[in-house]
Amino acid sequence: MPSWWSGVVGYEIYVRSFADTDGDGVGDLPGIRTKLPYLADLGVDVIWLTPFYPSPQADHGYDVADYLDVDPRFGTLEDLLGLVAEAHGLGLRVVIDLVPNHTSDRHPWFLDARSSRDAEHRDYYVWKDSGPDGGPPNNWVSHFGGPAWTYDEPTGQWYMHLFLPEQPDLNWDNPAVHEEFRRILSTWFERGVDGVRIDVAHSLVEDPSFRDNPLLDVPIEDTSSPQEIFDRFSHIHDLDQPGVLDIYRDWRRVADPYDAVLLGEVFVLQPTKLARYLQGDALHAGFCFSALKVTWDGDEIRHTLRAHVEASGDALTWPLSSHDDPHAATRFGGGDLGARRALAYFTFLCALPGVPFLFQGDELGLDDGELASDIAEDPIATRNPGATGRDAVRTPMVWEPGPGFGFTTGTPWLPFGRNREDRHTATGQLGDPSSHLEQVRRLLTLRRRLPALTDGSPTAWPIEDGPVVAVERGGELLVALHVGDGGGSAELELPDGCELLFASAPQVALLDGTLHLPEDTAALVALEDARILPEDDDEGLTAARAAVDAADPMLVADPEEAP
Ligand code: NOJ
Repeated sequence: MPSWWSGVVGYEIYVRSFADTDGDGVGDLPGIRTKLPYLADLGVDVIWLTPFYPSPQADHGYDVADYLDVDPRFGTLEDLLGLVAEAHGLGLRVVIDLVPNHTSDRHPWFLDARSSRDAEHRDYYVWKDSGPDGGPPNNWVSHFGGPAWTYDEPTGQWYMHLFLPEQPDLNWDNPAVHEEFRRILSTWFERGVDGVRIDVAHSLVEDPSFRDNPLLDVPIEDTSSPQEIFDRFSHIHDLDQPGVLDIYRDWRRVADPYDAVLLGEVFVLQPTKLARYLQGDALHAGFCFSALKVTWDGDEIRHTLRAHVEASGDALTWPLSSHDDPHAATRFGGGDLGARRALAYFTFLCALPGVPFLFQGDELGLDDGELASDIAEDPIATRNPGATGRDAVRTPMVWEPGPGFGFTTGTPWLPFGRNREDRHTATGQLGDPSSHLEQVRRLLTLRRRLPALTDGSPTAWPIEDGPVVAVERGGELLVALHVGDGGGSAELELPDGCELLFASAPQVALLDGTLHLPEDTAALVALEDARILPEDDDEGLTAARAAVDAADPMLVADPEEAP
């Protein structure tokens, strides 16, 4: 684990939708720089930037044409390095998105690869002859619809793409690809970034014989979405192959000398399978996507989160939402109810071992947008008639009241979401103690003062079933979440000497040893003898804050000197 990782809180920035400074309606790096103080004040420690690389944007940046530069629509390399330096100055770490499963079809490697069968970079990608029937080499399908193979007429072979045809998969059987990525990683670490979020980290390696995936007994209709079609197969040959761990073991040798984090987007929901990526010498940490798939059900939340905690412990990161999934507020019911539940759930995540991760707007309790059907930017929607894409999650931030909501002076690339009242905006919430923003800030500030939450203290799950999910950490702290079942407030008898430290709603109370926990709320309670650091004790801040400025060679990064 990097020395600074334990105890941090993360924040995902969807670069396109965060803050636009040049009026083109698309968020940019200078925009993010202006918001760094906001993020530091909020109490997050790590920001993850979605891809900003030169890219044709077929999949909004997850189609990379140059891994070492910045797309002019987002700014310059100098902007990026300045952002990193400024973030470090504020005690924030910066994690960038690395996309090693595929490149853009405009990447010079692929342009060369498709120029002839003998091209230097041909084997950087996965090429196969036609199957026996003259069609694709096997039955694999793309996440984004259609077969995972496209026929390249001039060279008479098929190339593989688990996503769009514009996102050809790299061939991780080729040592030259390994060498390229070692170089890319060390270049970014030299430039001062603190780690990488690894896109589809479970997906790089395929079955060596490219066997068909078994078909499951799931009917499909003409109207089935790409996801439904994808889910018709058991993906035993195209995803989650054991060899992928060797790649991360190798990357650890690159990352560890820089104290940089390898954070995987491992979309593997089975706890013991996910744990394989996070144990030993492979990834340092990985997102637990089950946390954003659970419904508002006590038993499901308890069972799911507990199994992951027991399998992977503090190597987990807990996304509240992401740019690929509905916001927590929307998943849990939408509107004020959804926001109330999202805060309660986040309170709970903050008390688990590992790293809670907000997606931009979660701190404001924002919902997804409601976009007219003729407005679609996401390729899942534009390429599959009738499919719902991810645009509703990616609507621009609402910073302040006004036509551009402080996001842009121009026309935003996507319309704003459904939360457009003053009280939804960041400035509308700042300074109001009852606002979502101020409550999240209070929670994060408090979390830093509670070592039992971040020092690997053991977990116990004192309630076995029902609508209250509770976790105890190290016998010092208790967090309880009441999802409700229509039965009204839950009453929990607590031992003597407890103190209510945080309540996700004002109706939560601890009176005469009884915790009154209304439906859709959570409470964080100190048990007797809990360690609580003093409020303004800077020394007591998380390791991340304390360590980040210490001897950081790239604090003032100079792009001229960047390798
Ligand atoms: C996962 C990313 O989060 C998603 O946005 C992207 O479309 C796919 N990987 C493909 O890179």
